[in-house]
Parts: sequence; C-alpha cells; structure tokens
Amino acid sequence: MRRWNNIIWLGCVFLIAGCNQPSQENEIQVGETTAEVFRSRCSGCHKPSGSTVPNAPSLISLAQKNQSTIRFSLTNGTMRTQAAGLSTAQIHRLSEYISQQDVDYKPAAKDFCLEPSISFTDVSVSKWAFDERNTGVAGDTNINSQNVSRLILKWAFELPGVAEARSQPVITRDTVFIAATTSGELFALDRHTGCIKWHSHAMAPLRSALTLGNIHGRPTLFFGNSKAETSAVDARNGKWLWTTSVGMSEYSIQTGAVVFWNGALYVPVSLNEVALAQNPEHECCTAHGLVRKLDAASGKILWTRHMTSDAQPTGKSRHGTRTWGPSGAPVWSTPTIDVERGAIYVGTGQNASAPATELSDSVVALSMNNGAILWHFQATRGDTYNNACSDFPKGANCPKWIGPDFDFGASIILSRNDRGEGILLAGQKSGDVYALNPDKQGEVLWRTAVGSGSALGGVHWGMAATDNLVFAGSNDPDFPIPGYRANPGLAALDLNTGKVRWRFDVERGCQTGLMDYLQRDEIYPACSYYYAFSAALTVSNDLVFAPALDGTVRAFSTPSGHLRWKYDTAKNFDTVSGTNAHGGAMDNSGVMFSGDMAFMQSGYDLFGQLPGNVFLAFELKP
Ligand code: HEC
Repeated sequence: MRRWNNIIWLGCVFLIAGCNQPSQENEIQVGETTAEVFRSRCSGCHKPSGSTVPNAPSLISLAQKNQSTIRFSLTNGTMRTQAAGLSTAQIHRLSEYISQQDVDYKPAAKDFCLEPSISFTDVSVSKWAFDERNTGVAGDTNINSQNVSRLILKWAFELPGVAEARSQPVITRDTVFIAATTSGELFALDRHTGCIKWHSHAMAPLRSALTLGNIHGRPTLFFGNSKAETSAVDARNGKWLWTTSVGMSEYSIQTGAVVFWNGALYVPVSLNEVALAQNPEHECCTAHGLVRKLDAASGKILWTRHMTSDAQPTGKSRHGTRTWGPSGAPVWSTPTIDVERGAIYVGTGQNASAPATELSDSVVALSMNNGAILWHFQATRGDTYNNACSDFPKGANCPKWIGPDFDFGASIILSRNDRGEGILLAGQKSGDVYALNPDKQGEVLWRTAVGSGSALGGVHWGMAATDNLVFAGSNDPDFPIPGYRANPGLAALDLNTGKVRWRFDVERGCQTGLMDYLQRDEIYPACSYYYAFSAALTVSNDLVFAPALDGTVRAFSTPSGHLRWKYDTAKNFDTVSGTNAHGGAMDNSGVMFSGDMAFMQSGYDLFGQLPGNVFLAFELKP
C-alpha cells in the first residue's frame, strides 16, 4: 500500500535544498510534462509546506487525498477554474502526480468483523448536535468530571484517502457509522473494536455529518455531498436507496447536516463559488444558499426556500469578466426544528457579490410546512465578500465594498430561559453570541462578544447550551494584522443574561512534534495562528468538550471552567487495520458520546490547517 510517507517526504522538502517537488514513484513515466503543468499552474499557491496564499492546502496535505478527490476538485470542485483547458488525460496524470494514495481503496478481508450484526434498538447519536434543537448536549453518556481522568484511547481507525475529516458519526449500542468524507468511503464499524461491518463507496466526495432516520421500519443514513446531492443509504447493509440533487447551480454544495424529522428531511445548501471567485476569469457570482424539504422515503422535493433572487448581470470586473448578483447567503448550518412553533431556523453567510441582500448574515425562521419566511434577523448589513478579497493585492472579483465575511455557520440553538420562554442562541463569525426571542420576530434579548471576529474568526461550527449556560468558542486566528487584536478562547455565558460566567483564553500550542526531529510549527507555519476553537462544542454531563485547531481536545467543568482532561491528537496512531494514521487540526464536528465511550475525528487541512486522517474511540477504563 502506498502510505503517506511523511518521513522521507518531509526530509526531501526540508533537508535537501532545491528539492521542492514530491518525489514520486511514477515521476519517470509521467515525465517532465506533468511536473511542468504542476509548476506552472499549481505550485504558485500549493507550496510543499504551509502556503503563501491564504486557504491553500500544502502539497503535504494534497498528497494525502486520493486521486479521485483531486480529480473531482479539478473537474467539478473548487479548483475547476485552475484546471480549465487541461485535457482529461492531463488531469488524470496530475492527480497521480500529487496523490500518494492507492488508486482504489478496498478494505482487506481481515479488517471485517466476524460478527457483523447491527442493532438499532439503542441509538446514542442519530444527528448533528444530538437533538432537533441543536443543544450539543449528549443524551446517552456516563462521562463526567469525576471519571474523565479514566478516559483512554481504545482504538484508532484510518479514514482512507483524506486529509480532512468532516463527518460526524451516528452511534448505536454496537455500531459506529462514519464517512471518510472527501474520499467518499462510508463505514459501519464495531463500536468496541473498530472492525468493519460494512463498507460502501460514494461517487462524489461527501461533505456532511451522517444522520439516522427510520423509514417504514428501515434504519436509513442520510448525508450530502460536494455536488449538492442528498443521499439515503440503508444503515443495515450500506445499500444506496436514492440520491436527489438539491442544488440550484453547479457551484452548490452541501455542508450542514440533513435533519430528519417526522418522515421528512430539511436540507441546507451552501456554495463553493466564494472560493472559485478567487480566479479573475470566473464570472462572479451566480449561486446562492437555499433550504429544501424532502420526503425521506423517496427523496422527492416538497418545498424550496431561496435565500436571494436569481443573479442578473451587473457589469464587468476590472479584469473584464462579466459580474453577477445577487449571490451568496449560503446556508452552512444544520437546521433547527421548533415543533411548538412549526418553524425551522437556519443561519446564513455573506453575499458573494454585490448587491448585498437582506437575508445574508442572518438568522432566518421558516415555516416547516411550506418554507415561507416567518421572520429574519440580520446581524450584519451590506456584507459582500469572496476569497478574491483575501488576495494581496485584492483579486478582480473582490466586491467594491468589502464586507467582513461574518457568517452564521453554527447551528441555531433552541432553548428556554428561567421563565420557561423560548430563546434562540446564535453565534456569528463576528465573535458575537446573540439571544433572540422566537415569539417576537427574532427580537434581540442580549448580545455578548466572545471574540474579535474575522473571516476565519469568531464562532464557527457550533455552540452548546445547558439549562442555564451557553458555551461558545472564539476561533480568532492570530494573524498579524495592524490594529487587530485576536481574542481566541472559550466562554461560558449565562443563558438568561449573556453575562460571562467563566472564560478560557487559549494560547499557542504548536510545541508537540508530529515527528521527533521537526517541530510542528516548522512543518505547518500556519499552526502558529491556527490553534483555537472552530469545531462544534459538546456537553457530556458536567463537562464541555472543546476540540482545537492545534489538535488538542480539552474537557472543562461546566460550572467552574476548570480543565479536567486534555489529549493531543496531532500525532501518529496505530490503527485497527495495522496502518499508521495521524491526527491534525480538530475542526467541524464535536466529540460524540455513547455510554462509557467518546468518539472524535482529527485532521482538517482546509485553510492550510494541519491535515489528518484518523477517527478515535476512547473509553472509561474500569
Ligand atoms: C491561485 C491559487 C491556486 C492555484 C493556482 C491552485 N490552487 Fe488549488 N487550492 C487553492 C485554494 C485557496 C484552495 C482551498 C480552496 C477551498 O476549498 O476553499 C485549493 C484547494 C485545492 C485542492 C483541495 C480541494 C478539495 O476539495 O479538497 C486541490 C486538490 C487542489 N487545490 C489542487 C490544485 C491543482 C492540481 C492546481 C493546479 C492545476 C491548483 N490547485 C492550483 C489555491 C490554488
């Protein structure tokens, strides 16, 4: 098996002067041409380690992706404009040249369980953030501040062909369902040993957490992919049931999880055009966010709510390329169900081009029945931004009025205050946490800043809320921007007033080496500013678990904020199949719980963060 041979490879990159290409077995066959294509078209942004361009993964990260993921990116994904004009054969050779992975992943016979039966009577985790209100509070867990010191690693599983882990498992009493998202491999694993019960392969890279629902007695997994397709798979055996296209454009993608409720699915749709806009040749921008309701049994679309009207031509960029708008307002977050009010809540992101619209950077309440807008709360007006704005000098597609890029990416939490009244909690990339009144059209009850905010700062994937506290992470990368003071950390706010009850200020933590002779911040210079809380927070009894971008996961006492447990995942792990996998940045999903066990994934190379490909199972030692 062609493994991620980091020792030889990094040795080449760092220790031999002038050796700035991946040394590959197939270099002789592909010859100069592929290397030249890479040098002229790709190497300007994808450096051997780290990157000079914001957001671009290093070559080390790209090598960890499998060939089909790279090909997808070059033909249908975020790199399609960079690869425009290349022939199919050239794209094929380029993916061979970059990837250090096997062409086709196939689990070995020895990795399968001898006893592959699956029980669905006891389900610990069936959806993102544990419940339909997205509280982030685990329902089935024994782990607490008294016993967490006994929480130890039980097994590690390699997520094959990926550099980023972006799923969240579904967990029953005997089985863990998990996706190696970008490579499209889907697994049912034994909860106690990590052996494989079934394995299935998706045709396009997956992008969302897994959701479990029951259709006429059939346990079914639902998820979304990079082409904005929602799929249903039989959870008993991995058989594909249906796939529905839910996008409005070739630039639509799915990121937030599909929500299963009462036989229907609520599907959030986002877009990759924000990244494509970095290319001045791209006609920016035409895609926008939306939410659809689907029949869970058939995949039939029941209603659609668009977050902007259709884009019209708006002129030309200084590069001479046609421009379009309105666009953007993507729905990154997993919808929240409010049974009592017949509503669902989603957060939206910024507009990708001018003109700005009223549903961007908003909390939007929709009717569950027909998708009508019940009310919306816009936190930031006039926010037009795409990745061309992160270039220096600004790219031609960067809008004239450059907004701050303050999405609501975290799922909205539905809770109650101490008078029993409904309260919605929303965290924004601005670093603000808002409490809104769902009975008064989203009227602001309080607002507390937990971070300074930026395009990659503030609140990201998810907050958590108990009966009286709200936990919010601030991701604020410590970029050396004049006049900007990053404020990364974790805050516990009083649910009724928004007052800060306690706070943990996170500090740089790049000391642990992935390898013994190189420090992590030498391999990944970006680690020096990516170390805060982007992943979703989750609560297990009196503990809040906070995974961080430097690979550290911490558990704090919910009432006091005292650190009770800490584990560094940015290292190598021996996996159940005998391979060597490694962790990296912890982003996206939070720690998941089931009885005496906790599950987490590590590795997330987007934005130049630490890549990784490991899924970890912990258990309370008796
Ligand atoms: C102008 C800078 C730039 C150039 C040139 C460029 N890239 Fe990228 N690349 C990026 C950025 C930025 C990202 C991260 C995009 C995102 O997902 O937000 C990226 C992401 C990727 C990814 C990961 C995408 C995924 O979905 O996992 C691959 C693979 C990739 N690039 C390959 C290439 C190849 C091959 C070339 C040359 C044909 C190339 N890139 C040229 C900037 C660039």
